[in-house]
Amino acid sequence: MNGQLLQGKTAIVTGAASGMGKAIARLFANQGAKVVLADLNKAAAEQAVQELPEGRGHAVQTDVADDQSVAAMIHETITTFGSIDVLVNCAGVPQAFTPIEELSLEQWDKIMSVNTKSIYLTTRHAVPHMKAGGKGSMINIASIAGIRARPGLNAYCASKGAAIMLSKALAIELAPFQIRVNVINPGPAETPMLGKFINGDEAEVEAGKRDIFISSVPLGALIQPEDIAEAALYLASDLSKIVTGEVMNVDGGRGI
Ligand SMILES: NC(=O)c1ccc[n+]([C@@H]2O[C@H](COP(=O)([O-])OP(=O)(O)OC[C@H]3O[C@@H](n4cnc5c(N)ncnc54)[C@H](O)[C@@H]3O)[C@@H](O)[C@H]2O)c1
Repeated sequence: MNGQLLQGKTAIVTGAASGMGKAIARLFANQGAKVVLADLNKAAAEQAVQELPEGRGHAVQTDVADDQSVAAMIHETITTFGSIDVLVNCAGVPQAFTPIEELSLEQWDKIMSVNTKSIYLTTRHAVPHMKAGGKGSMINIASIAGIRARPGLNAYCASKGAAIMLSKALAIELAPFQIRVNVINPGPAETPMLGKFINGDEAEVEAGKRDIFISSVPLGALIQPEDIAEAALYLASDLSKIVTGEVMNVDGGRGI
């Protein structure tokens, strides 16, 4: 899809080296945005930039769970592109199905840090620039697991539920500044992450994708990264200028 819905806007997409974040960065750049691709995986983020139109992408190695790393990424965005109009928090980590008594403190802390604390960190550093610009759009990629639980995904469900409520709290706090905050809840999606929710060898992972995930989607198919990118484009652009605090399930009906 080519067009100009984001002409003149600068967007940050975290987790942009893979899966949904990469698809969002590509669609935003094709819609005229300048995009910072912020990801832990520097080589893959730089490769993703190569696939964008000339001058539309800039890779910044970032650990979204680290305050200094996020502050440096926001600073580099401003020095490179001059403003922040759109912030997409897409970076995340999965959880392999784990009974709660076997979940280590380290696993809990990592999932909460990358999936939830990261939104606090990117927001606190980006918001002063959005306030200075007089408006902005934040899109937080949570999960259908944030509103519909599954056994053994205890920390992951908690991290995404918290991300959803944090987004609503930010939406009401930032509305007077014309900064909109919305959530996309993907259902099971065809990205490198999906297999990592399943404990097992390659055959068990493939069977699990079919038996656990596809069978849980009423529309009968895995969600594609491009489906999420198209929802993010709506929320990033002025098409959704009166929409804030919304939680959009892009999940083939999994959340019904
Ligand atoms: N795949 C699914 O089925 C699914 C379903 C619902 C929600 N989600 C959520 O969607 C988002 C994108 O997932 P995806 O499926 O595209 O995953 P993915 O594994 O393809 O991509 C995740 C990206 O995040 C990056 N990342 C991980 N930790 C990071 C950190 N600390 N700092 C910076 N970058 C980091 C990785 O390097 C990777 O490029 C995640 O938040 C995920 O929880 C995924």
